[in-house]
Amino acid sequence: MKNNTDKQIGKILFTKEQIEARAAEIGKQIYDDYNGEPVYLIGTLRGAVVWMADLMKNIVNDAEIDFVMASSYGSGTTTSGVVKIKKDLEGDIYDKNVIIIEDIVDTGTTLKYLKEHLADRNPKSIRICTLLDKPSRRIADIEADYIGFSIDNLFVIGYGLDYDQKYRNLPYVGYIEA
Ligand code: IMP
Ligand code: MG
Repeated sequence: MKNNTDKQIGKILFTKEQIEARAAEIGKQIYDDYNGEPVYLIGTLRGAVVWMADLMKNIVNDAEIDFVMASSYGSGTTTSGVVKIKKDLEGDIYDKNVIIIEDIVDTGTTLKYLKEHLADRNPKSIRICTLLDKPSRRIADIEADYIGFSIDNLFVIGYGLDYDQKYRNLPYVGYIEA
């Protein structure tokens, strides 16, 4: 039977094992950086869910999880530049150590908007943890605090990342010619 584990789409950039190893390293670093204080993890729907699941298993701090959906993309591979909050948080982040968990920081437009939007609610601190970073594409003035992997200007799929809503369930990060 054909499924995602025996069908390879695109060229593999990072395997599940490489990503899990990185999640373990970053999880430890978060524990140290926050001196074991509670954290409030905010996953960005839908792309960050796979990375978030790996990461949260490696965070031993008390943790709450929540989700937000912000979108600057239509379909395809180009940004519209307009950010909208399509789904807001369920919980209150006042005085909490917020960590926004992203799949990828590309132009940075989405994340800059999201960070400012959440900062208005006066969390104790706010940091960003992304699986992937494409620094060469940055337009907005924003950097992630924790980065799984920095990559060249490739269009990546899998491990939560989509191309027209497909391939999010691939168990690796691959790239396709866009
Ligand atoms: P930004 O606002 O340009 O930084 O876009 C961030 C969002 O665009 C990410 O959360 C992804 O959903 C999407 N995105 C950017 N680059 C890629 C890619 O290479 N593959 C899949 N989605 C991408
Ligand atoms: Mg996204």
